[in-house]
Amino acid sequence: MILRDLHDKARQSLDPVRYDYVAGGAGEERVLADNERAFDRYALLPRVLSGRETRDTTVDLPGAPRTAPVVVAPTAFHRLAHPDGERATARAAAAEGAVLVTGTASTTAVADVTGAAGDAPVWFQLYPHPRREVTEALVRRAEEAGCTALVVTVDSPVFGRHTRDLRNGFTDLPPGCAAENMRGLPGAPPGALTDIPMSPAVSWRDIDGIVGLTSLPVLLKGVLHPADARLAVEHGAAGVVVSNHGGRQSDAVPAAVDCLPAVVAAVAGRVPVLLDGGIRRGSDIAVALALGASAVGVGRPVVWGLAAEGEAGVRRVLAALRDEYDHTLALCGGHRNTDLTKDMVVRKGGTW
Ligand SMILES: Cc1cc2nc3c(=O)[nH]c(=O)nc-3n(C[C@H](O)[C@H](O)[C@H](O)COP(=O)(O)O)c2cc1C
Repeated sequence: MILRDLHDKARQSLDPVRYDYVAGGAGEERVLADNERAFDRYALLPRVLSGRETRDTTVDLPGAPRTAPVVVAPTAFHRLAHPDGERATARAAAAEGAVLVTGTASTTAVADVTGAAGDAPVWFQLYPHPRREVTEALVRRAEEAGCTALVVTVDSPVFGRHTRDLRNGFTDLPPGCAAENMRGLPGAPPGALTDIPMSPAVSWRDIDGIVGLTSLPVLLKGVLHPADARLAVEHGAAGVVVSNHGGRQSDAVPAAVDCLPAVVAAVAGRVPVLLDGGIRRGSDIAVALALGASAVGVGRPVVWGLAAEGEAGVRRVLAALRDEYDHTLALCGGHRNTDLTKDMVVRKGGTW
């Protein structure tokens, strides 16, 4: 309910073009809708009488020990949603014990984001650039800012076709907003939404290059095929994020959660698997963790919280998800996240 209320409030307060930028997806927005709907097809089969009085929902993730199982997924340009932008998101995530994945496409420079987060872990989401020196410059900026992991987005060889943005003619950031992490790097001045590097020339060799460039753990975000999950581990990834970019890239892929079990099987426990896309309730988190995810990412709800109430709104979103998840874990007889196992997830209306 809290998430829905904050979404409504954000819709009322945001300029409709900016609202569409965040809310929208690619094509006919089938994948966008399916990401959420997919969770309605799963139910949890609780265990009873476990006798576990307390719960510990923390998880160890690369560069983020004992953190909440809810990560703030990278979403672009937070100052479109609120003047405090990424700084507010960073303070909120730090206060709620959640890792913030801050993006290449940020309206606040990464060093200012980590500054706002204080001691809390911040991961840097990187769009690999076909020009190695640009990728390297971004990696160094993230390292110098104190980020504790890199999240390389691999599902974006080209820009997604965002139907609403095309209809609205939304191509440029408003005056006063810029892609600050791109400042001073070769390429266009950081004013257009598309100034963020994406290239179909990027390949597994670039991943090898990035892994060789840094001592930070490198996670790959946007993996759906189990064969790619296996390759990710072979190429040195410290984690895999199952994601279809919140339905903003291909409009013909499965719901993210439906891709999770095969990726978990392919990775076979060698590195953590995370999931994002459509997480809106504590029970969605429980389903994802029971299917083998170590943690989940949340995209749009965080931006709605930010647009509606700034830092306090982001805190409300993260706290609501944490509390709902903790409650669901208790109802399932769990003490730790790993007490949720795949036999506890059933397809609604299905047999087992
Ligand atoms: C407005 C917006 C901007 C996004 N920008 C990025 C980005 O710059 N890099 C990236 O890897 N993912 C980006 N994503 C995808 C998110 O990281 C995440 O995969 C997605 O939002 C999860 O789905 P959810 O919104 O249903 O939680 C963006 C998503 C949204 C909604």
